[in-house]
Amino acid sequence: MLVARNILTKTAVRAQSINNSLGSVYTMSTGNKFDLPERFVGNDKSVWVEYIALAAKYKPAVNLGQGFPDFYAPQTVREALANSTLNENPLLNQYTRGFGHPRLVNAIAKVYSKMIGRDLDANSEVLVTAGAYEALYASLQGHTSPGDEWIIIEPFFDCYEPMIRMAGGIPKFIALKPTKTSGKISSSDWVFDRKEMESLFSKKTKGIIINTPHNPVGKVFSLDELTFIADLAKKWNTLVVSDEVYEWMVYKPYKHIRIATLPDMYQRTITIGSAGKTFSVTGWKIGWAYGPANLLKNLQVVHQNSVYTCSTPIQEAVAIGFEEEYKKLGQPDCYFTSLAEELLPKRDFMAKFLSEVGMSPTVPEGGYFMVANWSALANKVKLDEETDTYRDYKFTKWMTKNVGVQGIPPSAFYSEEHKHLGEDNVRFCFIKKDENLKKTEDILLAWKNGKN
Ligand SMILES: Cc1ncc(COP(=O)(O)O)c(C=O)c1O
Repeated sequence: MLVARNILTKTAVRAQSINNSLGSVYTMSTGNKFDLPERFVGNDKSVWVEYIALAAKYKPAVNLGQGFPDFYAPQTVREALANSTLNENPLLNQYTRGFGHPRLVNAIAKVYSKMIGRDLDANSEVLVTAGAYEALYASLQGHTSPGDEWIIIEPFFDCYEPMIRMAGGIPKFIALKPTKTSGKISSSDWVFDRKEMESLFSKKTKGIIINTPHNPVGKVFSLDELTFIADLAKKWNTLVVSDEVYEWMVYKPYKHIRIATLPDMYQRTITIGSAGKTFSVTGWKIGWAYGPANLLKNLQVVHQNSVYTCSTPIQEAVAIGFEEEYKKLGQPDCYFTSLAEELLPKRDFMAKFLSEVGMSPTVPEGGYFMVANWSALANKVKLDEETDTYRDYKFTKWMTKNVGVQGIPPSAFYSEEHKHLGEDNVRFCFIKKDENLKKTEDILLAWKNGKN
């Protein structure tokens, strides 16, 4: 009887749910069957999608929006990719090991074992992903249960927040704030309030995401700042996801410090890198995470049930890139250091012309972005011609359409409640050919002087 009743009940429930779903189809205009699932709601806007479309429509003379070089990547990796597909080994064009192509995980383990001073196991402590993006996604999906809290430092690479929310987590925000607003401003002048940071940690905290060198401010977190964060992570037994995609782009005398190397931090840190940033090949979309096997295990589960495996020839080429640069470590032509040397004059040139135009740039210690306060130029811009809510969106859109220079609105890198903190700024990317930086200078100066 009981069994029969159960069967009946299940049948009734199924019939009811069929009715419900048919009902949704028939009431499509108001129904919700095909609406965005609850966990994605609010995450449907992306500054990248919007600004790529803006550039396609208005074709600005210079696009300093998205972060990628407009010049060639090193010959070594480009040749390596061509050779990988033409190689006599046909298998280099077929699926490879899901958690990372053997040659690449070995190369990554070798480079980072040296960088962090501990022997990484290539098979269990390294995961290759579809860009650093997927490494972030796998870290946050793999380590978040509903209600877990993650601390995010603002401004932040915009995908952190939706990734946490989509996993059922709760982001807690703390902003870096400039301690200076005039004169020469360095990214080291942007700091977080230590008391406030301390107050965000609790038993509910699953982890903190740090990004050093930082996008968009260019801050290279100091040993003192990292130690402060590490001590809180240890005190509250939390994870640290360390997004280090700009690790090689650090300008002297600053030095990149990997938080995983601080005492007792390796076991709670997942460090993320990007081939796109390391070798100036952002279109290749290969990234990685490294860390202790027990933490990486969760990322592997997410990866194997979503992306499963990344492009084989591209992984082979990145592996060759790492092998070649490893041989050159410490030499001036090693790309790990030569790229920063190449970028330094570009950074200084941009800081100079932005100041001349009347903006107030923050000179970055690392990365290849510069934020600049444009508020002194507000009277030259017809903000009311734009309908956006935030002033930096209005400013960047108006500049794209009327002056021909595109930047990115930094309020996109803040939580809803803190977006006002980014509104007076614009973010420009300076990993561009000298001639394009010069062109930007010419356009902006002509605009300032009323000639365009
Ligand atoms: C801070 C930061 N993290 C992650 C990424 C994503 O890197 P990838 O292109 O390898 O997915 C970017 C790309 O701009 C970034 O700026």
